[in-house]
Amino acid sequence: MVGADPMPGRSPGREHTGAMDRIIVRRSGPLEGTVTIGGAKNSVLKLMAASLLAPGTHVLHRVPRITDVACMRELLGSMGVRTSWIGPSSLEIVVGDEIEPEAPYELVEKFRASIVVMGPLLARCGRARVALPGGDDFGPRPIDMHLRALEDLGATFTTAHGYIEARADHLLGTRLLLEFPSVGATENALMASVRAKGTTTIDNAAREPEIADLAAYLNRMGAVILGAGSSTITVEGVDELHPVEHTVVADRIEAATYLAALGVAGGELTLVDARHEHMDMLIAKLGEMGMRISPDPDGIWAMAPRRLRAVDVSTLPYPGVATDYKPLLVGMLASADGVGIVTENLFSGRFRYVDELVRMGADIRTEGHHAVVRGKAVLSGAPVRAPDIRAGAALVVAALKAEGETVVADAHHIDRGYEDLVGKLASVGADVRRG
Ligand code: UD1
Repeated sequence: MVGADPMPGRSPGREHTGAMDRIIVRRSGPLEGTVTIGGAKNSVLKLMAASLLAPGTHVLHRVPRITDVACMRELLGSMGVRTSWIGPSSLEIVVGDEIEPEAPYELVEKFRASIVVMGPLLARCGRARVALPGGDDFGPRPIDMHLRALEDLGATFTTAHGYIEARADHLLGTRLLLEFPSVGATENALMASVRAKGTTTIDNAAREPEIADLAAYLNRMGAVILGAGSSTITVEGVDELHPVEHTVVADRIEAATYLAALGVAGGELTLVDARHEHMDMLIAKLGEMGMRISPDPDGIWAMAPRRLRAVDVSTLPYPGVATDYKPLLVGMLASADGVGIVTENLFSGRFRYVDELVRMGADIRTEGHHAVVRGKAVLSGAPVRAPDIRAGAALVVAALKAEGETVVADAHHIDRGYEDLVGKLASVGADVRRG
């Protein structure tokens, strides 16, 4: 399934000043110390949406302070839901008895994940008006699987003036078969079916740890979900859900980012709270590249040699190597020993950052969904631009092995998904600062 990149080239919902919108990196290493991994961006946004299902006060712990969370707070706020920080990483969400089931364009266009409010709004209010997410630099961003699943549950849709108007007087449990294990479609189906009458089965469901986290949150709220994390999820509909406290699953992509930094710069790190078992395939690949990584009572322990060996990698839905890791892997291969071929199987637009890496002296050729990366012993610092969250982080990572100074502009893209990337990298010895 090849589509488009989620949210490249978009501005986040935060003002950014020109001066602090850059990250300045110099060659660094070895890295040494401890980094604490935050809650998963790709989970917390869905958990916040799921809170719409139950009136009352929810509390989420381990919530990262990232721009996408700020955008989701704004979206919930526009529906009449109050959210406030009640600790460094604890977010209180107060859902009233009345909510406005509408997601306006100005907010939806800021982050594609906002489409996941559709399922919970339909289940809670019987109707929803959600702006179409729209296309991006790479083409359309289909939500056909989301809509088909909700339709199978009894919803009807009309589109007018750039909005999808959804209605469902009754949602009825049924068998849903996704043509591709789409993360977002699985989540929307899950959040709608928890309140549907009877049993819903979602076949060919996405298996990502973030889906299992969403199901755990919903089950805690009183839902009856079995099999989340596998390809078949069964949901027994319930009449009522109640608010709860929940700790967000650790962000495997954030953890992968520090493993990538370690791989490029060398050294030894402990990633506190990271979940080794959620990153098996990636860790196996990094092992082939010469890193030693093992579970640790605190999270993950990892060590990297001076220079990595090149490998070939293909992205696949979980438990395969995630598409979100890909820019990081390309960034690592740019200074590894040998030639690696990276194949993208999910999103077509995810090689845009390659031009930026080439500006840093990397030897990369792309053809269709493949990138051939010939490792150089060192790269060469250059001014570059972060095209999106993960690609931006990958440029910072690659720059750890670039002579001179690399200035990564448009760092606000990185802030959408990383809480204090610069501070965390600097704390383990990287020469990196905001500027
Ligand atoms: C989520 C993640 C994203 C990750 C992706 C794949 C969030 C906020 N984002 O995105 O970081 O890269 O999973 O692991 O959690 N598709 C359709 N029709 C649909 C839905 C999807 O054709 O109705 C296509 C997409 O264009 C893409 C593929 O299916 O080619 C996978 O998309 P999906 O798994 O839905 O990704 P997202 O949930 O958007």
